Amino acid sequence: MKRLTLFFFLTIFSAITFAEIITLNTPNSQLIVKADSATVPHILYYGDKSANPTELENAGFEAFPAMPAFGMIDMIHLPALQIQFPEGDLNLDLRLADISHATTENAEIVSFVMTDKRHKFRLTLFYKAFKNTDVIETWTEICNLEKKDIVLKRFDSGHLFIDKGNNIWLTHFHGDWAAEAIPVSERLTKGVKTIRNTDGARNAHLDAPEVMLSLDGEPNEACGRTIGAALCWNGNYEIRLNIDNHDNYHLYAGIDPQSSEYVLSPKQTLTTPKLAFAYSVEGMGGVSRSLHRWARECGMMHNGKAVRDILLNSWEGIYFDITEERIIAMIDDIAKLGGELFVMDDGWFGDKYQRNNDSSSLGDWVVDKKKLPNGLQTLTDAAKQRGVKFGIWIEPESTNTKSELYEQHPDWVLQAANKNLNLGRGGTQVVLDLTNPKVQDFIVNTVDKLLSENPDIAYIKWDANASIQNYGSTYLPKHKQSNIYIDYHLGLISVLERIRKKYPDIVIQNCASGGGRANYGLMPYFDEFWVSDNNDALQRIFIQWGTSYFFPANLMAQHIGGSPYHMTGRIVPIKFRADVAMSGRLGMELQPKNMTEQELQQCRIAIKDYKQIREIVQLGNLYRLVAPKAFQVHPEPLPPAEQDIVALMYVTDNREQAVVFAYSLSQFQYQKPQRVKFSGLDPEKQYTLKELNIKAGEKPCTLDGKTFSGDFLMNNGILLPLNGDYASRVFLLN
Ligand code: DGJ
Repeated sequence: MKRLTLFFFLTIFSAITFAEIITLNTPNSQLIVKADSATVPHILYYGDKSANPTELENAGFEAFPAMPAFGMIDMIHLPALQIQFPEGDLNLDLRLADISHATTENAEIVSFVMTDKRHKFRLTLFYKAFKNTDVIETWTEICNLEKKDIVLKRFDSGHLFIDKGNNIWLTHFHGDWAAEAIPVSERLTKGVKTIRNTDGARNAHLDAPEVMLSLDGEPNEACGRTIGAALCWNGNYEIRLNIDNHDNYHLYAGIDPQSSEYVLSPKQTLTTPKLAFAYSVEGMGGVSRSLHRWARECGMMHNGKAVRDILLNSWEGIYFDITEERIIAMIDDIAKLGGELFVMDDGWFGDKYQRNNDSSSLGDWVVDKKKLPNGLQTLTDAAKQRGVKFGIWIEPESTNTKSELYEQHPDWVLQAANKNLNLGRGGTQVVLDLTNPKVQDFIVNTVDKLLSENPDIAYIKWDANASIQNYGSTYLPKHKQSNIYIDYHLGLISVLERIRKKYPDIVIQNCASGGGRANYGLMPYFDEFWVSDNNDALQRIFIQWGTSYFFPANLMAQHIGGSPYHMTGRIVPIKFRADVAMSGRLGMELQPKNMTEQELQQCRIAIKDYKQIREIVQLGNLYRLVAPKAFQVHPEPLPPAEQDIVALMYVTDNREQAVVFAYSLSQFQYQKPQRVKFSGLDPEKQYTLKELNIKAGEKPCTLDGKTFSGDFLMNNGILLPLNGDYASRVFLLN
């Protein structure tokens, strides 16, 4: 309140000046900002708590504008903000007008209000520092106070400045459909490095909107000053890294203005997506753990502290060949295996057009009576009788040109004026125009109808298999066509908020042809995401490893796939497949009817054992112990007697319990096991190893039942028995 009064006072009597240094603290990191009413806020320092402002200034640390604005910085620097005002002027001339402090239960928020000396324009820059994890979020509110539209030509969410960095390495996550989240590490060199994704609807398949910066040379999992940055946005974005002429490092991140210059009406405010920074001296592992805690405890995922059910999803088991009999048989199978949830995937809907392949019916959300003559209730009843929950797939943001919805509302799809539609999946898929409130209502009503008519639906798999390929909206006015990507997402978020308000307890999976939406832009509304359409267990190890840098295990849906696997032809033993899936949210993606009795038996064991450890896995602290050779910065050729193995573990907050997963990736000749050092344990505590998911019919390995101190396990390690191709082990420590 005092600050608010000061703001009005300042606006009227602009002669009042102030200068102060503001420090935002997390448990182990701090952001120091110089705030002076003669200019704009400047970042002086982001890092650990070893520094204080006086020392920094005495040591010659430079400060740099927190939100470098075009017209206010030397033209050789990249701006984070550029606005075109009604008369065409591109220059900003901002001054700090006010600072506000607020506290929430778990965070401190500081906002810096800046007004322009020549234009009616307000920028508010926010920092939110969390008390329970080393994460600071930043974002802006951009407010047009002019009487005419202004155009946002560049509007990053945030900028980070590192004084005189030296030998800083960037790790970003590149990939593709079925090959998501492959880490790529490189030393930053002078000039600008850009990571971007131009997809307006789902941005995590190619380059994901998260990066790590290792400040002390090559990336290290366990030590070294490291910063993680996650842009919480699901559309087109740009992250720029720049070493300036003074050898200072800058990171800029925000919505990519290419194809998205935003036209802001008078009195309208645009809130930019959050950009989250995590800082750790414990390397990339430390950053991951802070971000995982932030996701679970700071509202970045829905129901972050809940553990998830074990499920069977119908897709790769029966694809579109849904019948009542097959679905009930699958429900029966997962119940008998000890699972808790069955999800009916694509193919259950359509009236005039049957959904027998991917070329029709999206939008026609009525039960296909030819496939399911007795409707959904027969299925939900069958699930109830067998003690499992029921879930269902929808893809509500799209339609097909072959659908009743498209026939009735051709203007509801995104489309460029007078141009043939570009068609996506199945040769007919197009994306609905979510900028249009009528389309938003249609989606909300579709979900509402489905859930209110079928109160026993407990889970939704929300898919999005199309990019926005038609850049045009019949709803948005001509001069606002470049607002499409942003207004699409604002529309989608409004839809999700309305659904969540009415259905807070439904578990919703975020899926986009696999991991296309594995980002924090939409996760506050979702309980988990589908990591990848690739369920080849060997390849999944890599995909899950990369995904784990930014996302916690209870967000990561990991399913046991079939063998031979349809994408790769690889034949993988069921134990290995289960051990790989068990390191996240366990599920199954196959037809149990095609499994052998021995495979079914192994799944029963895996599911039973997973129930013992799922809380540790899903809510524990992750330590990546041994990276796949292919992900190491300098992969050395394997000495003949050394295995390429992967090991990771989860430890509870109180360090009383842990779970270790270890996988052998190659076994070209006889190789000796590798000694693996554990991490994150209590050095004083004695831990007894219990082997889990033991191969059906076999005895546990010799480590089972042995006790070691945490100190011993972390400093000496143990030889993990991984003999033969596709060898894997899971141990519970308590
Ligand atoms: C893509 C998803 O990633 C798959 O799991 C499956 O749901 C299909 N869509 C269905 O069309």
